Amino acid sequence: MKEFSGRVAVVTGGASGIGLAMARRFAAEGMRLVLADIEGPALEVAVAEFTAAGTEVLGVVTDVADHESVVNLRDKTLGAFGSVHILCNNAGVVGRSIVDSSIDVWRWVVGVNLFGVINGCNVFLPGLVEQDEGHVVNTASLAGLRGNAVLGVYCTTKFAVVGLSESLYEELHASGSKVGVSVMCPGFVRTRIGESARNMPAHLKATQPERGPEDAINQAVVAGIEASEVADAVFDAVVADRLYVLTHRDMARGALDQRLSLLFEQGA
Ligand code: NAI
Repeated sequence: MKEFSGRVAVVTGGASGIGLAMARRFAAEGMRLVLADIEGPALEVAVAEFTAAGTEVLGVVTDVADHESVVNLRDKTLGAFGSVHILCNNAGVVGRSIVDSSIDVWRWVVGVNLFGVINGCNVFLPGLVEQDEGHVVNTASLAGLRGNAVLGVYCTTKFAVVGLSESLYEELHASGSKVGVSVMCPGFVRTRIGESARNMPAHLKATQPERGPEDAINQAVVAGIEASEVADAVFDAVVADRLYVLTHRDMARGALDQRLSLLFEQGA
């Protein structure tokens, strides 16, 4: 995409962190915004920020894990602005290790991180493909390139988001579509991701141990890069129609080198 002014960006998880930073970047290019988030009060604050700055913005409380809720997001978006040009499937939560996760924790993390992206693609892609213009940005992670011992459930979903994005990119290119696809794989970024449990469904919260991996994640996140750096990299990838957004290139290379070595050392 090269033209942004007046075009429409939909950002899930848009009330905080990387989503909010992408929305700010798009607003700086003159885009109109639709922010979707499960946290109503945070969404109101974000919408007020953009309204005060003169950006046309709509906030829609959305649970990305729920297909009907994403259909409602699309209908409200089209009702307000008539079209969509950039879709950021970005909402995400961290879970627990594989051994420590109940099946309900699996359902929550897979629901938000993977079905959130699936629902976004399923609901918005037909319109994007028909207008033959636009860009889908999916948020994965370095955890989508190499498994780890602490966040196995999260890794599972992020690997799937990378696979979905690569496949969608190939599929759209093979069909000659002008709709672009990018998948971002950042390392640690200074956001509220370590406080993901704030958005756990109530029935699940009650069954969780007092502390999970949050303290370790919060420490790592504080030492991470600013979300605005990620947003700049995403914007550049949309302009250049690049598939991968690698904000931590050396770490990504290290993770993939390790993975390839393991694969060919241990693969029969
Ligand atoms: P954050 O916690 O600051 O923002 C996530 C947003 O998603 C929040 O506003 C939250 O309310 C929303 N959300 C949670 N569940 C939702 C649901 N069911 N439906 C709609 N919205 C929901 O965290 P951050 O870091 O900005 O997370 C954004 C994405 O970036 C996530 O997919 C995360 O996995 C990914 N990521 C984050 C990294 C980091 O170090 N912060 C590193 C790599 C990837």
